Amino acid sequence: MKKFTCVDDIGNLEAAVKEALEVKKDRFAYKRLGENRTLLMIFFNSSLRTRLSTQKAAMNLGMNVIVLDVNQGAWKLETERGVVMDGDKPEHLLEAIPVMGCYCDVIGVRSFARFESKQDDYSEKILEQFIRYSGRPVFSMEAATRHPLQSFADLITIEEYKTKKRPKVVLTWAPHPKALPQAVPNSFAEWMRAAGYDFVITHPYGYELSEEFTAGVPVVYDQDEALAGADFVYAKNWSAFAGPNYGKVLSTDRSWTITTEKMALTDNAYFMHCLPVRRNMIVSDEVIESDRSIVIPEAANREISAMVVLKRMLETL
Ligand code: CP
Repeated sequence: MKKFTCVDDIGNLEAAVKEALEVKKDRFAYKRLGENRTLLMIFFNSSLRTRLSTQKAAMNLGMNVIVLDVNQGAWKLETERGVVMDGDKPEHLLEAIPVMGCYCDVIGVRSFARFESKQDDYSEKILEQFIRYSGRPVFSMEAATRHPLQSFADLITIEEYKTKKRPKVVLTWAPHPKALPQAVPNSFAEWMRAAGYDFVITHPYGYELSEEFTAGVPVVYDQDEALAGADFVYAKNWSAFAGPNYGKVLSTDRSWTITTEKMALTDNAYFMHCLPVRRNMIVSDEVIESDRSIVIPEAANREISAMVVLKRMLETL
């Protein structure tokens, strides 16, 4: 595997989940695979889970790991070509990327949407430059439009907990005080469609996601109707995608918060969220602390999804 940025890069999903569950049974079985290999993890944005789980996955595979927080201790990077660099950014990404490639065998990049330009965000300007200029296999640790390591972990979790071959999975928008990217819901939609689940999206008017990720998925604007009979409820906030409202918060309607009353509409569904989560905005204390909340096993599976991706990259070096 030379890159991992979207669901297509993982290939057959059944095979990927099977491999994940095998790796999970004995996570040190491939300890020699990464010997004398180095993973460089580059963060343009903050992280708790991705940083720890990916580092742990690499260590399970015997790799050395370097972590670079671009905004803490590195030179400020210019990302635009053609700019006269007379400002506060002394280094250009076009030199920095191949230099970073010299010091490692595999690169992971976290680079969120900036909401300055929808075109820049949706062309994955930063991630694509790493793929083009680093000379190394590159995987996304959440980019502007997708979070594939999270979605893969979500899929593994649903496969572990489901009691039906084709469960009903509901992605619901929930309120949040700040504008968040669409990467997690885009990616989740893409993976749920590929998995062939009974998948439904619910959100207030104005929060429609890009058709690139949701084509063919039913959108139900009444949250209660969408939740009826659900086996899994995946809550997430995102900002508006469509038109001039791109990146804007259009609603903070607390009636969309996932509460015990909302969960009572489901078929005793499991509650999922990628974390970090704002309690009593996205989900009530009672729901996230209930025995149907699987947010911790979901986060634990981040180590497993990262292991499968790194293993496949190491196997093709
Ligand atoms: N879910 C997730 O990616 O968490 P972090 O932002 O903490 O890495």
